[in-house]
Amino acid sequence: MGTPAFNVHAFRAAQRAAPLSDFARELHAGLSQETRSISPKFFYDVAGSALFDRICELPEYYPTRTELRILTECAPEIAAQIGPQAEIVEFGAGSLTKVRLLLDALEAPRRYVPIDISGEHLAAAAERLRADYPRLSVQPMVADYTMPLVLPSREKGGGQRVGFFPGSTLGNFTPEEALAFLQLACRLLRGGGLLVGVDLVKDPALLHAAYNDAQGVTAAFNLNLLQRANRELDTDFDLDGFTHAAFYNAPRRRIEMHLVSRTDQTVTLDGQRFRFEEGETIHTENSHKFTIEGLRALAVRAGFRPAAVWTDPERLFSVHWLQAQG
Ligand code: TRP
Repeated sequence: MGTPAFNVHAFRAAQRAAPLSDFARELHAGLSQETRSISPKFFYDVAGSALFDRICELPEYYPTRTELRILTECAPEIAAQIGPQAEIVEFGAGSLTKVRLLLDALEAPRRYVPIDISGEHLAAAAERLRADYPRLSVQPMVADYTMPLVLPSREKGGGQRVGFFPGSTLGNFTPEEALAFLQLACRLLRGGGLLVGVDLVKDPALLHAAYNDAQGVTAAFNLNLLQRANRELDTDFDLDGFTHAAFYNAPRRRIEMHLVSRTDQTVTLDGQRFRFEEGETIHTENSHKFTIEGLRALAVRAGFRPAAVWTDPERLFSVHWLQAQG
């Protein structure tokens, strides 16, 4: 399989519909390539976001639960690294649940800037957070965090500026994109650091199970992309004509998700017909897995100084504190 040409910008940050025309344009472009692909950001319409929340609760899907456990158990140590009066900037903030663990452990956190491209979702979540943390200044930013962005200027007497990037979302980028993101983050966070959660390389059987759950929720999530295209773009994907496939590509240390055509068929988008052969796939997502050393080496290349790292006893998942020198 060739290098996927997909562009993982802000996929999970999206948590909601990217503009309709983008979807049509990118699907058209993605279907026109020799190795077909579509950006995972289009997973997150209302139905997709709900399915994703269910994935996070599946017995086989260990990453969410494990990361929450690490954040809970190591919160005092994490808080000690970060210090008082911190300013937290979250990349792709979604529904603002994980950050609460951090806020509860920190000494007098001063400001929280959740960045997400889905403005409506973000505003509602920010309102709920304000109610629970009245002394925290919550300043949501509607932006695509993979693009250079300007943060509100730092407050006088504030502590460190800390980036927060949980959920192994870093692994959904290509290695080049991951490096570019970390370089950008390092510049933004100078004098502070980045707290990033990434999934670890492990027994492929465990990885396989996590992305091929028994209830078929991940399959439904993947297929929802075609359903969404039928709903919004008037395509005629035969939902029974495609099947979910997720497998571990060991040399590349990544789970690949595809939609596989079960027969020879054609699909019409905007009056143009796209032929699928039996077994031909649309590549919908990558989820790269890291070693602790690998993540630290990548961080160094981006300009960070890797400091503490926390894992669970089974070493399924890792949370890294990367310092951005002043
Ligand atoms: N970033 C997480 C991961 O790669 C969560 C995630 C994103 C995910 N897209 C997904 C999980 C699709 C399952 C299916 O694991």
